[in-house]
Formats: sequence, C-alpha cells, structure tokens
Amino acid sequence: MIPGIEEIRAFLERLGFDEKAVNELVEQIEYFETEAPERDDIVRDYLRDECIERLVEEIAREVLKLGRKGVRILDVAAGSGFFTERVKRKLEEKGIKVEVYGFDITPSMLKRLKGKDITPVWGVAERIRDSIRIANDHYGLDVPEKFDVVVSTLAFHHFLNPEEVLRSIRDVLEDGGKAVIIDVLKHGHDEFKDTLKDTHLGFSIEEMRGMGLRVFRKAEVRPLGLHCEVDGILIGLYKAVFA
Ligand SMILES: C[S@@+](CC[C@H](N)C(=O)[O-])C[C@H]1O[C@@H](n2cnc3c(N)ncnc32)[C@H](O)[C@@H]1O
Repeated sequence: MIPGIEEIRAFLERLGFDEKAVNELVEQIEYFETEAPERDDIVRDYLRDECIERLVEEIAREVLKLGRKGVRILDVAAGSGFFTERVKRKLEEKGIKVEVYGFDITPSMLKRLKGKDITPVWGVAERIRDSIRIANDHYGLDVPEKFDVVVSTLAFHHFLNPEEVLRSIRDVLEDGGKAVIIDVLKHGHDEFKDTLKDTHLGFSIEEMRGMGLRVFRKAEVRPLGLHCEVDGILIGLYKAVFA
C-alpha cells in the first residue's frame, strides 16, 4: 500500500509532472525520508506543549463548527500523523465519529501512521484526487474522494505550487466542507531553504487571503499569536480557514 521510490517516479509521471517537477518532488521525498523517524521529536522541539495543544484545539474547533456527528477528515502532508492523531482523539472525546486519512508523498512518513488508526494514502498535494484514484486503482483500495474537512499543518510552505494545492483541496471537499491550514507566517530566514528544505519562506496573512479567495468563496486568515522556534529563531503561525 506504500510505494517505493521507483513506483513513485512512475506515479508522478502518471500524474502529469514533467521531469523537472518529478526531480524536485523526489528531492523533497529524500529529505523527508531522513526526517521521518524523528518527526515527532522535531515537532516537540519546534513547539511547546501548550502550543501543540492550542493547534489541536484550533483545528478541532473548526471541525466542531460544522455541527456534524460524524466527519471524514483528510490530513494533507500529514507527516508522522503527530497532529492528525491528536485532532482525532480530541474530536472523539467530544463524541464525534471520526474517519481520518493521512495523505503524504514520503513513504517513511506514511509508515509512521501505522497503529494510529489513520489510513495512509500516498499522494501529491497538488493532485489529491488523481493521487487517490491511482492509489485505489493500483492497490485495490477504497479511499473516498470527498472529505468534510481537509487539514494541513506546518506543511504549506513546502509545496512547490501552493495555489494549485488549494485548488486540489477544493476539489476533494464535500459541499459545506472546509479546509483548515496552519503554517508559518512570512519570514526572512533564507537559510531555511537549505537547512529545512523549505520551498517558501512562509506566507503573509494578505498573501494567504488573496490566494484563498482566488480558489474559495470564503477565506478567514489570522495570526494565531503562537510561534515555533527553529534554531533559536521565532517564527509566527497563522490559521487559514477556506470554504
Ligand atoms: C514539515 S512536514 C509536516 C508534517 C505534519 N503535517 C506535521 O505537522 O508534523 C511536511 C510534510 O509534507 C510532505 N510533503 C511535502 N511536499 C508534499 C507534496 N507536494 N505532497 C504531499 N506531501 C508533501 C512531506 O513528506 C512531509 O511529511
């Protein structure tokens, strides 16, 4: 169910990526393959426990606002499932029935979802629906193509084409569903492109709002008043809700 690198190259070509994009995506995968075993500790290093709890609450609150007794959630670029697992637990504590899918491009991240009651789905954020179709077709799976909520944490600045990711998210949202994205605000630390394999140096509130409104009808973006700390540098976080 979780592909190896040669299979991934074939899937990426099937998804229509040209050679340059395939190579860029493979570079991302290689970086995150090395990060996967340590991802939980990395998150704990970046964020204090109160911050982690706040992020989980922010996402759970957005899901609860839908007023549904059962929800199907897709976590795009779920990584090791650190937040996915906690959000699921928080919602279950509130009596919500939760079905959750962890979607990621890096095989070793997907392997970390095992035992967490999160269904792993290999795929590329810029092409969610087509990735799900490939995974279903290739592995005989039955992963749904629509979700009540799509979440994504600490990943948006890694995507090669963020606006395309928003369109790809919109296409897998149920009617009345929403996307909740939490990530880093714009900063000036160019060195993170090398040290953290960041593609973008975060996005400002205005950039996220603008991008959101080009794709969705509603966009609420605000700073969370929280930050993550990377190598002693503080980077602010935002929450974007699109519907
Ligand atoms: C910084 S980690 C964040 C993981 C997790 N959401 C968290 O909060 O800990 C970024 C994740 O994005 C994934 N990723 C990067 N580009 C991707 C893409 N185009 N499609 C799907 N996943 C991608 C990586 O494999 C990695 O697991």
